[in-house]
Amino acid sequence: MLGKNSEEMMRKWWDSASEYYQKEISADKMTDVQYGPFGSSEKKLKLLGKIRGKKVLELGCGGGQASIALAKEGATCTGIDISHKQIDTARKNAENEGVKVEFLELPFSHIGELKPKKFDVVISIMALQYCIDLRALLKNVGNLLVKGGIFVFSIEHPFYLLMNPKDLRIKESYFNSGLKMQREKWPDNTVHYFAHYDRKISDIVNPIIDSGLKLETMVEPFDSQDKIWGVGYRKALVNKIAPTVVFKCRK
Ligand SMILES: C[S@@+](CC[C@H](N)C(=O)[O-])C[C@H]1O[C@@H](n2cnc3c(N)ncnc32)[C@H](O)[C@@H]1O
Repeated sequence: MLGKNSEEMMRKWWDSASEYYQKEISADKMTDVQYGPFGSSEKKLKLLGKIRGKKVLELGCGGGQASIALAKEGATCTGIDISHKQIDTARKNAENEGVKVEFLELPFSHIGELKPKKFDVVISIMALQYCIDLRALLKNVGNLLVKGGIFVFSIEHPFYLLMNPKDLRIKESYFNSGLKMQREKWPDNTVHYFAHYDRKISDIVNPIIDSGLKLETMVEPFDSQDKIWGVGYRKALVNKIAPTVVFKCRK
């Protein structure tokens, strides 16, 4: 059942979940890039360097908040996302905030089509856990970056995903990585299939090395005061393993 149709399954899930997701994560994300749950922000971590005048591509932009925040700082931003609903929200958000950002409905598997465009910075916030072929994506990112360009992405911390938030015990084997699918019944009785990838650290780091991008730093940020993404996260677990990890690479 999984495989070729997984990307389509993810699109359907995100189209259905978009309204709830946007309500939960609040609009405060439009003044600074927020790297993820309890994961701190760009103004604190300073991973992107000076952004004014830079060409930025955001992968899995959702409601476009990070691109909008960077556009406010003087960057020229393009955001792509597989979900029509998310892109629709992103366009409305940009209009309401009075900034120009190009938002495109495009899956990760098609970002090669953005060529011959080149970018100084590529970012992705909590989205690459939905990327089916990370190796192919990294290769395309390398092709889209100018020499010396930066790729910063955050994902759910692989260790956090292992834990059961209820009893704070390890719920499954670290080695049981790969595409996972959950059947969900929502309060309105509709059934949805949520698919994502669980990756080991080596499943992330080795494809970066093989892509030719240089891994400059890996950050495991922890901002205990997070009020933006904190919904649904159990403090007792978050205090032990922060849910977010950030990688910075350079071409
Ligand atoms: C957790 S949300 C993060 C959204 C946004 N970056 C943020 O910080 O709020 C993950 C996003 O990845 C997008 N996504 C999932 N699979 C994708 C794919 N194959 N190609 C492009 N976008 C995808 C979803 O539509 C969703 O908007």
